[in-house]
Amino acid sequence: MRAILVCSILIAAVATAPVVAAEKVQLSVDVSKAGPKIDRNIFGQFAEHLGHGIYQGVWVGPDSPIPNTRGIRNDVVAALRALKVPSVRWPGGCFADNYHWRNGIGPADKRVQTLNPDWGGVIEPNTFGTHEFMDFVSQIGSEAYLSVNVGSGTPREAADWLEYLTAAQPTTLARERAANGHSAAYKVGYLGVGNESWACGGNMTADYYLSQLKIYSRFVRNYNPAQEGKQQMLKIAVGPGDANTEWTETIMKAYRNHEWSWDINGLSVHSYTVVKWPPSYASVGFGTAEYSQILKSTLEMEDLVTKQSAVMDKYDPQKNVALVVDEWGAWYAPLPGTNPGFLVQQNSLRDAILASLNLNIFARHADRVRMANIAQMVNVLQAMIVTDKEKLLLTPTYQVFRMYVPFQDATFVPVTFNAGTYTNGNISLPRLDAIAAKDASGKLWLAITNLHPDEPAEIEADLVGIGVKSVAGETLTAPKVDSVNTFDAPNTVVPKPISVKVQGSRLALELEPKSVTVISLEQ
Ligand code: AHR
Repeated sequence: MRAILVCSILIAAVATAPVVAAEKVQLSVDVSKAGPKIDRNIFGQFAEHLGHGIYQGVWVGPDSPIPNTRGIRNDVVAALRALKVPSVRWPGGCFADNYHWRNGIGPADKRVQTLNPDWGGVIEPNTFGTHEFMDFVSQIGSEAYLSVNVGSGTPREAADWLEYLTAAQPTTLARERAANGHSAAYKVGYLGVGNESWACGGNMTADYYLSQLKIYSRFVRNYNPAQEGKQQMLKIAVGPGDANTEWTETIMKAYRNHEWSWDINGLSVHSYTVVKWPPSYASVGFGTAEYSQILKSTLEMEDLVTKQSAVMDKYDPQKNVALVVDEWGAWYAPLPGTNPGFLVQQNSLRDAILASLNLNIFARHADRVRMANIAQMVNVLQAMIVTDKEKLLLTPTYQVFRMYVPFQDATFVPVTFNAGTYTNGNISLPRLDAIAAKDASGKLWLAITNLHPDEPAEIEADLVGIGVKSVAGETLTAPKVDSVNTFDAPNTVVPKPISVKVQGSRLALELEPKSVTVISLEQ
């Protein structure tokens, strides 16, 4: 017979001791009802030539006193490796439809200087180009998701770029690549055909974009022999920027009976948590009212994914085409004193909670949402990392991505619970959210978010069909909803071990207010 109290880990108390009696919540996890795989690609990143997202954030150049490998910051690489980043979308965003790849190859001192009219009107030195990006993804152990220029480029330009990158035979372009330092064909995992083509990507109608998509899909090919069959490059079409489904209808209806000569594997959707445009909510110095408003707004992701998926189901019931949320995250007012075109904002505990809620939504839609890329990776919008010259800081959002690593490619396991309600003025939120998954080694992972900013929650979980051998967990919280990490106080919002009690297949723990907790259970 299994020992009664199997395990209890009590290493440290979390930052804020609860003063309010915890509400009891029953939660049930049934491993026999395992669902689809939670694709590791939902934990992807987006890095645009915008503000200090690339220059200073990733690229400092080989002559910099900041420790680097071939110009790429070692500290940023180390931090991202820990996240097991599955893909990095590059070079934009709006920037992609202005980008001409030939400007970013060849000797560094010969690169042309162009402008970045969308983002601050600054000079784009083009010193971080194709080879530097491919080196970067290789250093962090990730895959390239290239966004090709449909707005101001041509199919020929994009086709040449892909031939330059992927041709293994000694074509003129492949020889040029070799002369620029890389004789082997590169692997390009994902190809984005344009970006927001309904807006900054060219103000196209859905029908006009569809005709472009067919041409790009046909001619922009990957020639790397290692990418045949299962390793094939996945092509992602531009999708909508909200819950409106007209654009999706046009693309998916055409996809249903598409000719052999064009194809897509994904349809993108962009959705920022912004409440209203232009972004006006402060990223720091707010209270529970703004906290609640932003979380309410972020939960609209559920409706958006549900509506877009329903249209996709109509035309693609086999779910061949993934819904790719390749821009998501919080977009706040620019920090005072910063260039408004650089999209600099703080990253608080609220953003960590927001990230967990979105990742949970993607996981619950794992059959259709198989890829996502948060905006953006370093120094821009809801970043993982903030840099200042030689200094580096990990944000609360980084911590959630790190805690959720075990969910990458794990099998979704349904969790049932009564979420309850947290009310602030006229805003009502679920007070709790949770997902569970089983990894390849058989470990069960449970992520629980307590949205309530003031009250703890006492969780009693019933783990159907599991006998638990050992348990461990960590929780992320901080004194205030707008607590942030700074260069002077980098550990204000970092995970700490949490005490979990297990008795047979029952588990008990107390969640701090405004917290994200991840627990692992070994059977
Ligand atoms: O992430 C910033 C911008 O937001 C991207 O360039 C664009 O695609 C979106 O509108």
